[in-house]
Amino acid sequence: MELLEGEEELIHSEVDSIFQEFTPERENLIPVLQETQKRLKYLPKLAMQKIAEKIGIPEVDVYSVATFYNQFRLYPPGKNQIKVCMGTACHMMGGHIILESFERRLGIKEGETTPDREFSLERVACVGCCALAPVVVVNDKVEPKVSPIRVDGILLSYEIEKKLEEKEKDAEEEGKSQ
Ligand code: FES
Repeated sequence: MELLEGEEELIHSEVDSIFQEFTPERENLIPVLQETQKRLKYLPKLAMQKIAEKIGIPEVDVYSVATFYNQFRLYPPGKNQIKVCMGTACHMMGGHIILESFERRLGIKEGETTPDREFSLERVACVGCCALAPVVVVNDKVEPKVSPIRVDGILLSYEIEKKLEEKEKDAEEEGKSQ
């Protein structure tokens, strides 16, 4: 995942400041990773490299811990967070097919984020509206009885929204420059 402008500096300064709170020891690895994720919203590769270097352990050890615990995310949250329910009712109604449709359409796997950071995709346990299975939650909006065909429509509505936002921004900037 490519870093955004200014993100590299932010990672360096946050990790440096975290090590003012924690001594660089192996037993602090998990709390350091938790604090890093709290501040940066995910664990960028650069942050993990820096943490390994500070503690003096191989990078692969940090990476193994980060991938072992599912509380850690290795990708930044997308601007639109898609959560596909994989509770029993949704699974029985084809939730896995819906997840696959999103994966195919977005070109990412579950747990990942699109390179433009517009969408992240994850599976979640029952979200409490089983009668509407299979359910997808985008940001906080519940999408009921989703079919593979509706996957396109759902994504399209967010893509259109983005285009409209961009147009508004361009119009605003044009207005400013006049
Ligand atoms: S199993 Fe999906 S909402 Fe309950």
